[in-house]
Amino acid sequence: MPMDQAQAVIVDDGAKMTAPTAFAPAAISMEGVHLTLAGPAGPVNILRGVDLTVPQGSAVGIVGPSGSGKTTLLMVVAGLERVSSGKTVIAGTDYARMSEDDLALFRRENIGIVFQSFHLIPTMSALENVAVPLEFAGRKDAFARAEMELKAVGLGHRMDHYPGQLSGGEQQRVALARAFAVRPKILLADEPTGNLDGGTGQQIIDLLFSLHRHHGSTLVLITHDPGLARKCGRIVRVGDGVIAGEELA
Ligand SMILES: Nc1ncnc2c1ncn2[C@@H]1O[C@H](COP(=O)(O)OP(=O)(O)OP(=O)(O)O)[C@@H](O)[C@H]1O
Ligand SMILES: [Mg+2]
Repeated sequence: MPMDQAQAVIVDDGAKMTAPTAFAPAAISMEGVHLTLAGPAGPVNILRGVDLTVPQGSAVGIVGPSGSGKTTLLMVVAGLERVSSGKTVIAGTDYARMSEDDLALFRRENIGIVFQSFHLIPTMSALENVAVPLEFAGRKDAFARAEMELKAVGLGHRMDHYPGQLSGGEQQRVALARAFAVRPKILLADEPTGNLDGGTGQQIIDLLFSLHRHHGSTLVLITHDPGLARKCGRIVRVGDGVIAGEELA
């Protein structure tokens, strides 16, 4: 299925639109977040006092030099890295109060992540890759739902292919279908087009924004592409472990 048709399929499954406004409750609220990890030459202060608020349903582009802490910031929002100090409240949930198990459950139900390098499970078909998180989330119709999601990203004809039998753009579409299948409140994307050619990258971006718009998911998009960051409407610049500035596009 061509991508323009694919996007049309996604539009309506009864989800409500959420208008992003400055007064909407925060999807992401970080206050004074520090994160120090052990490096080979001693502790590395990766995040050094991050303050960031992202209203529910809005989109933000995260930019900044390599090594500035963008991916680490995303990992904190996903609950995959514990902060050393400071407060992280995601979709109204204070991470400091959560056990690892609680965090895993929360993540499954509320957060979709798309990595630069796809992170698909190589021994599972495209269909299984999308269905498994749905099963974890307790969906009885996991496989039927996964099939629908894959058709929605134009991969109805590739469901039984393993990641190694898919092109880069196709793998990224599977990753996007997987991240979006649970209709996460928050969609986190780390350079999702980094490994794709221009045309395929554009299709993935169109799909990402279409999912964000039609389902009111909050979108956090890390990118080195200034044009793409502007598409989010708000650009946050990370520099040396802090929020170094921001602008509305
Ligand atoms: N597990 C770790 N242990 C120690 N240091 C780490 C760890 N992970 C990342 N770092 C360091 O933290 C800094 C920030 O890394 P991060 O991956 O967040 O950067 P980034 O802004 O995403 O960069 P890029 O644009 O290259 O992806 C880097 O200097 C990196 O070397
Ligand atoms: Mg990174």
